[in-house]
Order: sequence, then structure tokens, then C-alpha cells
Amino acid sequence: MEAKWGILVMMAIVMLMVDTSNGDSSTPTLVKTVKGKKVCDKGWECKGWSQYCCNLTISDYFQTYQFENLFSKRNTPVAHAVGFWDYRSFITAAAVYQPHGFGTTGNKTSQMKEVAAFLGHVGSKTSCGYGVATGGPLAWGLCYNKEMSPSQSYCDDSYKYTYPCSPGAEYYGRGALPIYWNYNYGAAGEALKVDLLNHPEYIEQNATLAFQAAIWRWMTPIKKSQPSAHDIFVGNWKPTKNDTLANRTPGFGTTMNVLYGDGVCGQGDVDSMNNIVSHYQNYLDLLGVGREEAGPHEVLTCAEQKAFNPSSPTASS
Ligand SMILES: *[C@@H]1O[C@H](CO)[C@@H](O)[C@H](O)[C@H]1NC(C)=O
Ligand SMILES: *[C@@H]1O[C@H](CO)[C@@H](O)[C@H](O)[C@H]1NC(C)=O
Ligand SMILES: *[C@@H]1O[C@H](CO)[C@@H](O)[C@H](O)[C@H]1NC(C)=O
Ligand SMILES: *[C@@H]1O[C@H](CO)[C@@H](O)[C@H](O)[C@H]1NC(C)=O
Repeated sequence: MEAKWGILVMMAIVMLMVDTSNGDSSTPTLVKTVKGKKVCDKGWECKGWSQYCCNLTISDYFQTYQFENLFSKRNTPVAHAVGFWDYRSFITAAAVYQPHGFGTTGNKTSQMKEVAAFLGHVGSKTSCGYGVATGGPLAWGLCYNKEMSPSQSYCDDSYKYTYPCSPGAEYYGRGALPIYWNYNYGAAGEALKVDLLNHPEYIEQNATLAFQAAIWRWMTPIKKSQPSAHDIFVGNWKPTKNDTLANRTPGFGTTMNVLYGDGVCGQGDVDSMNNIVSHYQNYLDLLGVGREEAGPHEVLTCAEQKAFNPSSPTASS
């Protein structure tokens, strides 16, 4: 009986209101206070009583025309994934992570910067823009949804007890932040509750799933002791003394470090790094945030950083 009254009182505290701090947003926002903290629920796009859901949602500041603007060449006949990627699948995938802060952390500028940063990684990893003149090399993000001529099947047998390769399955690169190798498909599949180990092809068949896997990678530490790209970017991560000695600072540069390591970072101003940076800067401009918001060179790049995860012991020191 008492518990029942408790629930009724709780419900009475929930107010249905149109949150005017959201500018022209018409999404009804449910608001309540839990332990002195304001938390919200915004329906399908930001569900589950989170403080992040009290802020703008991604679709409040990033709309179809902006997605089209960023990925303007993806459906031209020479592109390799014509008709695959669309705005709706990005927003549907993002809805899972908005209650956890994806695109919903901080003020509007900070939120837009995170979307530009995430999509900057995506754009550069899925671009076919090199050598293609029309629109410039930065207009060709989301041109691919899979690796075109894989040279191997990316099966690492040392994971045969945890993520055994499925007979006939190919673990070549697929998705928005391409996934390679059986163990990466296995880990992503576990997190997303989809059997990607036996069906890696789902990623190239379903754009929502492809974006979901990419946002999961962005939001989740690769190693338990390390921050996620999201935590690095939004400032949740506080560098240790070792990080500072390794030039790892909160910001875009270190997101490249945690995702790609010394394949991209610590090599000076190399093309592999500059290409990712250029996509991010271009998207900041296209979204009207402006590239000057990206901060100074040492925050924007990882040219002088030591990798979190050096690819070989000799590369660290
Ligand atoms: C938005 O937040 C950032 C980071 O906290 C801050 O530097 C900036 O001044 C804020 N911008 C506005 C318009 O409040
Ligand atoms: C929500 O937005 C406000 C101001 O725009 C910002 O100060 C606050 O940090 C944001 N909340 C979260 C949880 O990021
Ligand atoms: C695509 O993936 C999403 C997210 O996992 C899922 O909800 C949806 O049902 C899938 N669509 C199809 C056609 O399988
Ligand atoms: C810091 O770096 C030193 C030398 O590389 C290493 O021995 C130590 O374990 C590191 N500390 C932390 C907390 O990572």
C-alpha cells in the first residue's frame, strides 16, 4: 500500500511541459527531480530520465538538410553505397546514446562540435574523395559502407575461444567507423545484442546498425583503463601525469589517438591524420559553428602525441 502511494506521489512530481529553453523545439519534455538533479525524458529520441535529455536533442540542431550538406556526394552514381546511408538511420542510431550524452553534453556549440567530430571521423573513414575533383575531396564522406577489395578475411584465430570465426564469414571492414576482425565484430555484436560474429554482413545491410556500431565505438572505451573518444572530446576525461607527458590533452586530437593510435598519431603532420582533421574542420564550417571553435593545433591534432596503445613495444618507449 505504502509503495503504491509512493508511486502516485512520484507521478505527481512529473510535469508535462514544453521546455522553452529548447528554442523552437516542439518535443514535449517530461521533467522530474531525482536526488536534487533535474532529469528529463523526451520520447523516442532521448528516453530514460537522464540529465542529458533536458538539453537539446540532436535533431533540434542537426537536421536533414545539414546531413545532406555534409555528405552531398554519397548518392552520386560513382559512389559505392548509393541509397544506403540516410539521415533517419543516423538519428535512430543516435537515439540509443543521447541519454548517455552523445550530442547532448554541454551547450549547443559543444553539442554541435561533438556531432561534427564524430561525423568527421566517419566522413574521412568512408570517403572516396581522393582524386575525385567534383565538390572537393571533403564532399565524399559516406561513399562506402564496406571495404571494396579485402586482401584477407580478418580472422584472428587467437580469439577462437571468445570470438571464434564463423565458417564462411568475412570480417573485412564494414560500417560508418569501419569494423575489422572477428574479435571486433564479436565485441560490437555483444554490446548491440546482434549476432555480428555469425552475421558480419548485417552491418553492410542496415545503415541504422552501421551507425549504431560506430556510435558505440565512439562512446565506449576500447580498454577498460582508458577513456572513450566521447569522454575525451567532451571533457569528462582528466589526463593523468603520464597523459600530459605524452601530450595527450582533452579534445579532437586525442580521439584519433584512442581510436587509431600510432597509425595516425605521433608522426607529425601526416596525411592520414590531416585527412581526419580536415573533415572535422569542414563539417564545423558547414554546420555554422566555424573551424576556429576546434581550438589550437595541439588540441586539434595528435601530431606530437604518444599513442595510448602503441602498435609494437619498440614504438612506445
Ligand atoms: C559553451 O560551452 C563551452 C565549453 O564549456 C564554453 O567555452 C563556451 O563559452 C560556451 N558557449 C556559450 C555560448 O555559452
Ligand atoms: C545542458 O545544457 C546546459 C547549458 O546549455 C549546460 O550547461 C549543461 O552542462 C548541459 N547538461 C549536460 C548534462 O551536459
Ligand atoms: C536494423 O538495425 C536496427 C538496430 O539494430 C534494428 O532495430 C532494425 O530492426 C534493423 N532493420 C532491419 C530491416 O533488420
Ligand atoms: C606512467 O608511465 C610509466 C613509465 O612509462 C609507467 O611505468 C607507469 O605505469 C605509468 N603510470 C600509469 C598510471 O599509467
